[in-house]
Amino acid sequence: MDGKIVILTGAGISAESGLGTFRDKDGIWTKHSIEDVATPEAFARDPARVQAFYNARRAQAAEATPNAAHVALAELQAARPDTVIVTQNVDGLHEAAGAKVIHMHGELSRALCAACRHRWDAPLEMRVGETCLLCGAPEARPDIVWFGEMPYHMEEILDHLLDADLFVAIGTSGLVYPAAGFVEEARIAGIDTVEINLEATEASALFDRTVTGPASEAVPAWVKGMLGR
Ligand code: APR
Repeated sequence: MDGKIVILTGAGISAESGLGTFRDKDGIWTKHSIEDVATPEAFARDPARVQAFYNARRAQAAEATPNAAHVALAELQAARPDTVIVTQNVDGLHEAAGAKVIHMHGELSRALCAACRHRWDAPLEMRVGETCLLCGAPEARPDIVWFGEMPYHMEEILDHLLDADLFVAIGTSGLVYPAAGFVEEARIAGIDTVEINLEATEASALFDRTVTGPASEAVPAWVKGMLGR
């Protein structure tokens, strides 16, 4: 199949690199409540708790390495440069595998000033009251899109999506909007849609095709097919 491919990835693609997903058994949201660690209100109420939560995830992500699924997508993008990868993930495993990606939910490796919106590379451990490198305000926070906040790069992402010939969702439960709405946008635009996930999801009925299996096996096999190898 020729043409432009837009790929959306979720936590499932990094699961086999040792980074927990959110909603599976033992997922991150079974151990932490979203209201305590992943909203602007939580950060205002208890910044130490929020910083500790992301410091722990940042340290884990820094130790993790890309798996065969990340590597296969980087190979696909190298062979077909108009392949656009959009990720909900905040780890850097796509880049570590050599791919260029759009982070719609931010990045653990970046810090953001809540006062002036300046961004810089985050230290491994962010402290409460950390000051902005540009304006000096003690308003540094993890550069992560929290619940209730607008994801990044939405206009660019939707432009790519509506310009695509194929939309593929990998390792995502399809429960969090606006990412969960991409398949519907693609369907309405007459774009082919494929889901690759460990198991069927609540969104599976919306896709033309669902491939089930661990990402580290299913994604390389799918890429091999796409590259006619
Ligand atoms: N291979 C493929 N898929 C997998 C694997 C694996 N090895 N392990 C788990 N999965 C699948 C699960 O079956 C599930 O459908 O990955 C999906 C992970 O879903 P979630 O935990 O809901 O993660 P995600 O869809 O990325 O969450 C979306 O929600 O919590 C917020 O901002 C956070 O970006 C995140 C967003």
